[in-house]
Amino acid sequence: MKNLFTLYKRVWRTPLASGLALLFVVLDVGINLILPYIMKDVVNYAIANKDLSYALKRSIIMLAIVFVAIICIVLNNLFSQYVSQKVTEEIRNEAFTKIQYLSFNNVDKLTTGRLISTITSDCNQIQQILAMSFRILIRAPLFLIGGLIMAFITSPNLFFIVLVAVPILIIGAGIIMANASKHFRRVQIELDTLNNRLLENVSAAREIKTFVSEEVELTKFEKVNKDYTDVNIKVGKVMAFADPLISIVTSLAIAGIIYYGAYLLTGTEPVLEGVGDIMASISYVNNVLFGLIMVAMLLIHVSRAEVSARRINELFLEKIDLINDPNAIVDFELNGEIEFKDVSFAYQDEESINENCTLRNINVHIKPNEVVGIIGSTGSGKTTLVQLIPRLYDVTKGELLIDGINIKNYDINELRKQIAFVTQESILFSGTISSNIRQGKEDASIDEMEEAATYAAARNFIQERDNQYESEVLQQGTNLSGGQRQRVSLARAFVRQPKILILDDSTSAVDAKSEALIKDSINKLSKQMTTIIIAQKISTVKDLDKIIVLNNRGQVDGFGTHKELLKTSQVYREIYNSQFGGVDNE
Ligand SMILES: Nc1ncnc2c1ncn2[C@@H]1O[C@H](COP(=O)(O)OP(=O)(O)OP(=O)(O)O)[C@@H](O)[C@H]1O
Ligand SMILES: [Mg+2]
Repeated sequence: MKNLFTLYKRVWRTPLASGLALLFVVLDVGINLILPYIMKDVVNYAIANKDLSYALKRSIIMLAIVFVAIICIVLNNLFSQYVSQKVTEEIRNEAFTKIQYLSFNNVDKLTTGRLISTITSDCNQIQQILAMSFRILIRAPLFLIGGLIMAFITSPNLFFIVLVAVPILIIGAGIIMANASKHFRRVQIELDTLNNRLLENVSAAREIKTFVSEEVELTKFEKVNKDYTDVNIKVGKVMAFADPLISIVTSLAIAGIIYYGAYLLTGTEPVLEGVGDIMASISYVNNVLFGLIMVAMLLIHVSRAEVSARRINELFLEKIDLINDPNAIVDFELNGEIEFKDVSFAYQDEESINENCTLRNINVHIKPNEVVGIIGSTGSGKTTLVQLIPRLYDVTKGELLIDGINIKNYDINELRKQIAFVTQESILFSGTISSNIRQGKEDASIDEMEEAATYAAARNFIQERDNQYESEVLQQGTNLSGGQRQRVSLARAFVRQPKILILDDSTSAVDAKSEALIKDSINKLSKQMTTIIIAQKISTVKDLDKIIVLNNRGQVDGFGTHKELLKTSQVYREIYNSQFGGVDNE
């Protein structure tokens, strides 16, 4: 309950609405407890004395009171909805903000499906329990205790029947709850799996269609969906016993009161005032049992919401493993000297560094304004290596220095602002071409954008579009070709005028003419920045200042010029021979 309680405290951030919600529920309960008592008098007195006008007057008063109670319920509902929605809105915003700051490592661990179900389903659970608690959490115990007291006051002789019914219901509800709550955690876990599958499918719709793998995907989805359904059915089965239990116990208690009441009334020495006592007792039994049922239901919902609250708190407390040093250097301009000093990296935790190392003991020194290529077979760790430079991941061992200073000592945002990283997937966002390019530099002028687009060989295709820089870009840039997307991503990087430019296989989809243009641009711009170019083809890197060759164990197999590497690096020679068949003897 600890987790739920931490989230609960937020209701006091809207004190007025919370206070009013509480006030109206207390009023409603008070009225409901008074009513049977008034009714008892009416029945006992009016019937015994055949006083119709007394009955009429009292009935009108009762109606007026009921009307007030109804207004109280409506107002309580309105305020509790307001509070619960506001609190949940705040939790959702906070969760989203946290997700924005999670490192890749954090996201890998939590999974995207889990993050989505936390913001959607878990937050909904919290909203529901909050709204419910203002209605029920207060009402149930008040009904329960108030009902017991009133039942005793009304008729001590009938009270013992209530005392028998209550423990039976408590034990029954306890068993049901204990069985149901162990399934709740599984419900949320299965929902995560379902979300993960859905997410993967929606984002890879094209691949699924081209590989005609709809059937396979459907089967996989059906399996996940079935698991989710099964665990929900299990919960349903347990909960199905709740209703009959309540009905049986309530009916038995009422029957008991009627029979025993009748027995007492018809006895030689009547101990009851009249039928009114029996009717009022039945009402209070209903109140007490209703209060109990509500407490049981609430506890079931609470244990379910606690699961969600724990997941939300886990997200809130998730330690962002990329920490920005509070004493970090903020005011700096990079020269672009990059030095990997005995750097090792593992995606998993540090303990597994020896078995699961993606990069091992990397020692590379890149001078300012050099243009350096990286080559190596797929999966050798090229992308991993460059991701360390803008601190998308932190090195596991060793040190990464820029201009002789460990990158952890720079302010992370300032560091990233001076680095442009064109990723392998060239992801664009919905908006316009200009909004995408301006992601690189928010206040870029039209001239700056045009210049960047020219460097990226994107100018022509943008100008051919009807709205030019204002042409619409759909989600993930699906209305652009692969090559166009790559060129817009390049323009986004160039417009930033970075001190370090990283291109991860960023010209793989552009035509030969555009590639040559981009190469020229890089040659021109390289005087002001350090450039790192990951490539699959030797032809892309062979004229660069230096080339890093990675082998399949995540080690540097060679670092030097094309000519040097042909002599020193076995891996480089193999790649070279596979692409040129050993014909070119340069
Ligand atoms: N987020 C991740 N979590 C765990 N392992 C990862 C992750 N990303 C990559 N890897 C693993 O790290 C290794 C290196 O991947 P990386 O993407 O750096 O290769 P690459 O050289 O860029 O390959 P390619 O030429 O295909 O782009 C691979 O074995 C890959 O499976
Ligand atoms: Mg890669």
